[in-house]
Amino acid sequence: MDKYEVFKKQVNNLINIDLNYYKEKQMKRRISSLVARNNFKDFEDYFDGLKKDKQLLNQFVNYLTINVSEFYRNPSQWQVLEKDIIPRIINRDKKTLKVWSSACSTGEEPYSLVMLLTNFFPLKDIKVLATDIDDEALNKARLGLYSEKSLSNLPKGFKEKFFTKIENSYKINEEIKKCVEFKKMDLLKDSFPTYVDLLTCRNVMIYFTEEAKELLYDKFYKSLSDNGILFVGSTEQIIMPEKYKYKPVKTFFYEKIIK
Ligand SMILES: C[S@@+](CC[C@H](N)C(=O)[O-])C[C@H]1O[C@@H](n2cnc3c(N)ncnc32)[C@H](O)[C@@H]1O
Repeated sequence: MDKYEVFKKQVNNLINIDLNYYKEKQMKRRISSLVARNNFKDFEDYFDGLKKDKQLLNQFVNYLTINVSEFYRNPSQWQVLEKDIIPRIINRDKKTLKVWSSACSTGEEPYSLVMLLTNFFPLKDIKVLATDIDDEALNKARLGLYSEKSLSNLPKGFKEKFFTKIENSYKINEEIKKCVEFKKMDLLKDSFPTYVDLLTCRNVMIYFTEEAKELLYDKFYKSLSDNGILFVGSTEQIIMPEKYKYKPVKTFFYEKIIK
């Protein structure tokens, strides 16, 4: 077995992340550069380091998971969400929505969802489940402190309404924070919530193999409520959605077909 194969197995045992589900070429290249940057000889040598050094292990998980995010990422899609998708779901006589931001990273996406939903519901009726595999990202999300740059796509007035400026950063207000429940979850291994009306999975599937994507489409299908909506990232359109029993309602938005 080559050293990378052994490394993948050891990583899975150590931190329970299965690299086999991530695109091999891309992942191997990324990890190799990390190995070199930290002056290790090879994967074997690097893994010995990971076992001994918690900080090195944190750096590895962080690098691997790629946490970049921003509020209202791809703003035109958030307009579609507000103008077409949410009204479409509400028309089904829903008083509240079950919303899940999967792979939520540092919280920009679930907080954006809450802010958008305030245009439809009182805060007391808004609940968003937000999950990610990365503990450190989740801790940042719970803290809710952001740079001005990450807020630049927000609709007019949102910054003033939902954030408090602290020196050069912006802190999300408590009332918004309270609507989000953050939880650690591995999309590829853990079981999913059910009866979800709106499920976002954005900018993570690009890192997964075809096999992992198929597994996810199926798990998401089971997780969605009847006619629930899956919102994907801007390079993650589903090829042949019918195969997985989804109907495209707008670009990047898919509805669960029930038969
Ligand atoms: C680029 S961020 C996407 C953040 C946000 N959804 C957005 O579009 O801005 C990708 C996130 O996927 C998470 N991730 C990677 N593999 C995962 C897995 N197997 N299960 C859950 N989250 C995962 C990473 O930790 C990272 O926070």
